[in-house]
Amino acid sequence: MPEENHPRFDPIGVFDSGIGGLTVVAALQELLPSETIFYIGDTARVPYGGKSRKTVERYSIEIGGLLLAEQAKILVVACNTASALAVPRMKDIFKVPVQGVVSPGAAAAVKATKNKRIGVIGTRATIASGAYEHAITTLDQESLVCSEACPLLVPLIEEGMFDDPVTDQMLGRYLAPLLDQGIDTLVLGCTHYPLLRDAIGRAAGPGVTLVDSARNCALAVRELLASHGIAAPQERLGRLHVALTDSTEGFLRTAEKALDLEIGDVELRAVQIGE
Ligand code: DGL
Repeated sequence: MPEENHPRFDPIGVFDSGIGGLTVVAALQELLPSETIFYIGDTARVPYGGKSRKTVERYSIEIGGLLLAEQAKILVVACNTASALAVPRMKDIFKVPVQGVVSPGAAAAVKATKNKRIGVIGTRATIASGAYEHAITTLDQESLVCSEACPLLVPLIEEGMFDDPVTDQMLGRYLAPLLDQGIDTLVLGCTHYPLLRDAIGRAAGPGVTLVDSARNCALAVRELLASHGIAAPQERLGRLHVALTDSTEGFLRTAEKALDLEIGDVELRAVQIGE
């Protein structure tokens, strides 16, 4: 095989229900600057956070197929909802390695907690799936997991309300039951939440360690690439390609600025909208 055809040169395929997964892209770029990334945001069908497992699986498998058509050497599910609901099915179906954000976030939380009381916040579907609870208690049976669905945080973030009294008030409400349980660690179980890190930190207080699934997912991807012998040559400088399934760019530009990413032209990919 000619050297340039080796999978090492192929992109990492990353997808999210929309734009929030760019937090994972930012973490990947920081850790793995040689890797080219092909990102697909399913903006035509976002949000996934209130949908059923069957629907989220179907969407995830369809987007995974689009990424394989771009020669993705690994699929990174940069969406907590899709990670919680669809990664097992994707692992059965796709031949390339599939990395979600739940298991790295759970491992980081178990490592960070001192009192074994871990809070998890995410979409309704992520919290209802119990995926974090399962992943955390599989690693440490003694950990107590307290979860809270925070459905209003995604729209607040998409409106760019990072530093706003309304957001602070919502966070106060959502976090109160978790803080009452004495958590010392909080998993940001949604790819949008790192954009709200400062406000969440303020609401949780200095005694709570925030665990961000983006950075931990990037570390897991680095390990997978190394173990499969498909990491890009170090001397290369990777690029970022972004495709959306609908041409809604508003939040994309907010996230681009907040995450200090360089996104050039955005491509479009068609998906099956109905059943
Ligand atoms: N990307 C989703 C997640 O991380 C949040 C947005 C949605 O509900 O689709 O759970």
